[in-house]
Amino acid sequence: MKIAILPGDGIGVEIVAQAERVLQCLDLCFETEIALVGGAAYAAHGHPLPEATLQLARAADAVLFGAVGDPRYDAIERALRPEQAILGLRKHLQLFANLRPALCHAPLTHASSLRPELVSGLDLLIIRELTGDVYFGQPRGRRTAPDGAFPGAEEGFDTMRYARPEIERIAHVAFQAARQRSRRVTSVDKANVLETFQFWRDVVTEVHAQYPDVELNHMYVDNAAMQLVKAPKQFDVIVTGNLFGDILSDEAAMLTGSIGMLPSASLDAAGKGLYEPSHGSAPDIAGRSIANPLATILSLAMMLRFSLHQEEAADRVEAAVQQALAAGLRTPDIWSEGTRRVGTVEMGDAVVAALTTSASFNG
Ligand code: IPM
Ligand code: MG
Repeated sequence: MKIAILPGDGIGVEIVAQAERVLQCLDLCFETEIALVGGAAYAAHGHPLPEATLQLARAADAVLFGAVGDPRYDAIERALRPEQAILGLRKHLQLFANLRPALCHAPLTHASSLRPELVSGLDLLIIRELTGDVYFGQPRGRRTAPDGAFPGAEEGFDTMRYARPEIERIAHVAFQAARQRSRRVTSVDKANVLETFQFWRDVVTEVHAQYPDVELNHMYVDNAAMQLVKAPKQFDVIVTGNLFGDILSDEAAMLTGSIGMLPSASLDAAGKGLYEPSHGSAPDIAGRSIANPLATILSLAMMLRFSLHQEEAADRVEAAVQQALAAGLRTPDIWSEGTRRVGTVEMGDAVVAALTTSASFNG
């Protein structure tokens, strides 16, 4: 088994290094290979997703990804910007199913900006379609408006579209995931305004006929955004399109205390996956060793579970994270009065130490 490691930019390098340490102390036999991606790859090779990096990701059984994005490259042409690397990987590897669990860890109940009683015990799963929608729809670009309110004016445009098989397969992922949980799916759309999402609603409803044991309800995205902060515990599985899922998953992340806690898995039809924290490269805090490595370490646990079939190792990693939190260690993003403020490496140390002790306990 081979794991491709793509740290990327900004804090990506710092947090992935901690996840690698965790992987190493698990004593499993995996080969790992590291490659440049994002702004770092652009700086070295003139492209955010060099062919060699893409080939490595294709050949590997799983990909551990940090983050991409670097303000130094915000002004270059879009095709060469760091973000194109992750979009390209998702598209080329057909990673259409993005799983973003939002779990409020008990010791962090007070780190949320919402009242503790609203978030304590929160456990929801956002399933975001990841290779379609307005993110990838063609045509797109800039042109002279051929019609509309200002014909002849310069305009920017994108295309929102979803094909039936794209909606069907993500709906199946959602209903099947719900069967492992509380058997409730909320499909989020904008069927009241958009043709694409009326179609989405119709197809999800059709697929639901195959899952009579799962409850389905539909919600408009604006209402869903409101409900997430009003009563987030009403949700079990949320399934939605690429754009709405991008927005709602950041919102859901904050309910758990910090976006620095949220892992994610992006899977293809065969279960091969790319695993990355839900947050970005955070250039404002990069290089200071204060970023929270737990989202990446928890992403590693998802990799062990979903792509490498190492359920027990996944449980151990998650338990070690719990232990570090229970011991009161906090990176600045989750710090609160009465807890101990630590940096990226110290948090990694704590997880590694918890794993090593649990290993010796198990003999
Ligand atoms: C995410 C990010 C990406 C996205 C960016 C970096 C392209 O925000 O994974 O949520 O919009 O999908
Ligand atoms: Mg996002």
